[in-house]
Amino acid sequence: MNAPRPIDPGPRPAGVALTAVPDEPARVPPRVVDNIIELVGNTPLVRMRRLERECPGVELWAKCEFANPGGSVKDRAALRIVTDALARGDLRPGVRLIDSTSGNTGIAYSMVGAALGVPITLVMPANVSEPRKQVTRAFGTDLVFSDPMEGSDGAIVVAREIVDRDPDRWYYPNQYANDSNWLAHYHGTGPEIWAQTDGRITHFVTGIGTSGTVVGTSRFLRDHAPHVRRVALQPDDAMHGLEGLKHIPSSLVPPIYDESVLHETIWMPTEEGWDTAERLAREEALFVGHSSGANVAGALRIGRQLAARGETGVVVTVLCDRGDRYFVPLKWEKQYAF
Ligand SMILES: Cc1ncc(COP(=O)(O)O)c(C=O)c1O
Repeated sequence: MNAPRPIDPGPRPAGVALTAVPDEPARVPPRVVDNIIELVGNTPLVRMRRLERECPGVELWAKCEFANPGGSVKDRAALRIVTDALARGDLRPGVRLIDSTSGNTGIAYSMVGAALGVPITLVMPANVSEPRKQVTRAFGTDLVFSDPMEGSDGAIVVAREIVDRDPDRWYYPNQYANDSNWLAHYHGTGPEIWAQTDGRITHFVTGIGTSGTVVGTSRFLRDHAPHVRRVALQPDDAMHGLEGLKHIPSSLVPPIYDESVLHETIWMPTEEGWDTAERLAREEALFVGHSSGANVAGALRIGRQLAARGETGVVVTVLCDRGDRYFVPLKWEKQYAF
């Protein structure tokens, strides 16, 4: 049989060498799984070649956590939190998981709960966007609303009150204090990045929400590749617009947060994170949320500093979720009349 004629991929974007064309056979066979949760983790690592032009000699790489089935980095933590609790017997029949989250963790718990038959209740401030409420409810999750003026810390307080009233009915994982959270990254994100860079990574940088990603990945690197520089990133102000990230000095400090595994913290202005998110969509075709923009802005800062000193480096950061999560969706539920 004649070999199929290669499809002309068309003109290549200036300065970008394509390593694969559309009709190449897949180098890795597509995954076949029994349950959606098997698709959590093993996310791709993508090089940001256009941004690299600002830091000659330095490679910039992004771990595509938006490729998880629930759409964010939080799938890893939620999956490990639930499976560890099931293994310990904390989540037994008749017990519901309850946690305070309006963001990606809520969606991740909801997805994992639906996949494993674990009932989920989420506490979130009443002013959380309608799409956030709808997406979690779509998985069958129950919602409880807390005072919008008290923000996410207020939701934590309400969740604790509900559990205290009837402790036998609930399993309260508290992602901010749960070791399964950072362990998901110690055993997943860290080793994956190490393998995907062939051990060439020199810098890791990512933002702090619960701190699970930065603490777990940094602990792995500290234990297995201590020469890699481990950098956290925080919003530079208590009032910020980098959803998913925490300004630790003005927040409840997550008990799993461990500054001792970090070499330094970058303080990121909201505007730099948002601007970089826009650049990522336009220049790298990576349409991601603002915490991802902030992470890449942090990676760029490191890259520029290295380049200014004439040094090389392999800087890795995390794309936490996709940009479309921040848009109001079309109506999805069948209850709507068109
Ligand atoms: C959009 C977004 N970015 C970043 C993070 C930070 O991740 P972590 O909780 O592992 O620190 C989160 C976590 O909630 C998030 O939702």
